[in-house]
Amino acid sequence: MAVVVAMGIAVWQAPAAAASVPLKNITNRYVGSAVAATYLASESDYRAVLTREFDNVTPENEMKWGTVEAVRGQYDWSGADAIVRYAQRTHKTVRGHTLVWHSQLPDWVAALPADELRGVLRDHITTEVKRYKGKIRAWDVVNEIFNEDGTRRDTVFRQKLGDGFVADVFRWAHAADPGAKLYLNDYNIEGVNPKSDAVYDLVKTLRRQGVPIDGVGIQGHLSIQYGFPGEYRANLARFARIGVETAVTEADVRIPTPPDPAKLATQASYFGQLWDGCHAVSRCVEFTTWGFTDRHSWVPDVFPGEGAACLFDENLHPKPAYYRLNP
Ligand code: G3I
Repeated sequence: MAVVVAMGIAVWQAPAAAASVPLKNITNRYVGSAVAATYLASESDYRAVLTREFDNVTPENEMKWGTVEAVRGQYDWSGADAIVRYAQRTHKTVRGHTLVWHSQLPDWVAALPADELRGVLRDHITTEVKRYKGKIRAWDVVNEIFNEDGTRRDTVFRQKLGDGFVADVFRWAHAADPGAKLYLNDYNIEGVNPKSDAVYDLVKTLRRQGVPIDGVGIQGHLSIQYGFPGEYRANLARFARIGVETAVTEADVRIPTPPDPAKLATQASYFGQLWDGCHAVSRCVEFTTWGFTDRHSWVPDVFPGEGAACLFDENLHPKPAYYRLNP
């Protein structure tokens, strides 16, 4: 990392090139990024860094219900197909994201009566999982079904189908592609807390019932304004003990803008702790970031005044966090 002092203020300057060995070659975990099909098609520098550094891709929005079937019966697989084709060409795995989520859910689905919703949900899962059968390493089957206090989120699926919909959707996904690893995915479950306790209890119960759930996706959306989540490694380890994989699925570490050397150092430390913890637990199989460049990130849209959450800056120069993972 290069720090220069200008007018008495230390300024971090990105070195021109990434480390000589790409991130994907220094780890035995899948190392991935969320990607957007539009940038993949239109930005050659974006594509080049993605291709060089990562060996897993997760479509950021292209496989969500609101994208693939915004209007009932009218499917748009263009973005998802493009990302899967790119992954096959460049020998990367794909994490499918996501089959059942209360957000980015078309209005027509939310409006269905209970009896119809069940059939439509089953068709949605079966159609999408079969389309990419054999091409998706792991699916985020259900996304964000818990509240912070560990109670179930009151989504349309829960209201109309009851809590049992979770077991059903895993069974339907497994029937459509028995080879894909099936995950439950959520945020704020990095450490041990009421929400991760609830995930732990549910996964344990589902496994006992023979429901085909293989893993827990820990999103990893962190902010340097809060402390690093407590007991992160212990949390990963307890999932391993009940026989499921874990994956860090959406890592990013946002900082109050503008960035400065101290904030970037804290960010690097948080990324490093996420990475090291995953490598310390054998069943943590994947480390995926939610985008890799500050040029394109969901953070400033949702958290005004915060940003710069990725491993590479807007010009695709590696940041201190990148060098913390790949010194
Ligand atoms: O595609 C439309 C475009 O046609 C329209 O003109 C434009 C106007 O706002 O919106 C575009 O859609 C946006 C979409 O991203 C694609 O860019 C939506 O408004 C926007 O809400 C959507 O945001 C996505 C968000 O999920 C939705 O909740 C983010 O890109 C995506 O990074 C984010 O990802 C989620 C994970 O799926 C689950 N975990 C949390 C994570 C961050 O919120």
